[in-house]
Amino acid sequence: MKYRQSGMPSDDTWEGFFDTQLVLKSLDITKDIKKFIDIGCGYGTFLIPASRIISGVAIGVDIDNWYLELCQKRVSDASIENIRLINGDISQLQDDSLKGADYVSLFNILHCEEPLALMKNAMSLLRDGGKIGIMHWKHTETPRGPSLDIRPKPETIIEWTGELSLSVIRQVELPPITLASYLKSEHPFI
Ligand SMILES: C[S@@+](CC[C@H](N)C(=O)[O-])C[C@H]1O[C@@H](n2cnc3c(N)ncnc32)[C@H](O)[C@@H]1O
Repeated sequence: MKYRQSGMPSDDTWEGFFDTQLVLKSLDITKDIKKFIDIGCGYGTFLIPASRIISGVAIGVDIDNWYLELCQKRVSDASIENIRLINGDISQLQDDSLKGADYVSLFNILHCEEPLALMKNAMSLLRDGGKIGIMHWKHTETPRGPSLDIRPKPETIIEWTGELSLSVIRQVELPPITLASYLKSEHPFI
């Protein structure tokens, strides 16, 4: 099932909202990452620049083939060789190649119907001690983004980590419109 309010405007408009390099830097996307999974990768807004930083494979998963085809075109046009794209519903996907990730990103997707289940799912893909990066719209008026009542607040994410085997490494404000949380898995397989 495609998660609620998970559509995007055109890639140009969408990408005008974010400072992608700042997001990736703030969330410690670094060269030592060997397997990076971007859940709901969309146009590849963050997946493509992340693939240029990490040293291994960057895997993008998305349920919407229209976004994924556009992402694939960008990957091919730029001759990027370390990106793999998977079309599917992350809540249903059974794919062993997704296991053992150093890093899973949940960018602009945690306003879904069952955020805790999505976080658990992300955790199940991590290697022991792997990391999760979350980015989402601030809980205030913004030029785009899901309804306020379904946007996760930083304190809610902290509460959720208490219910999972996760600890918060840091939470940062990314001006002007987004917030990010960087989490570490303690025991990934729950
Ligand atoms: C708001 S967009 C964010 C895209 C990208 N993460 C970004 O920040 O640029 C949410 C993305 O999640 C995808 N999505 C929604 N439900 C999904 C599901 N069940 N499994 C995988 N992807 C999903 C949508 O197709 C869309 O590309």
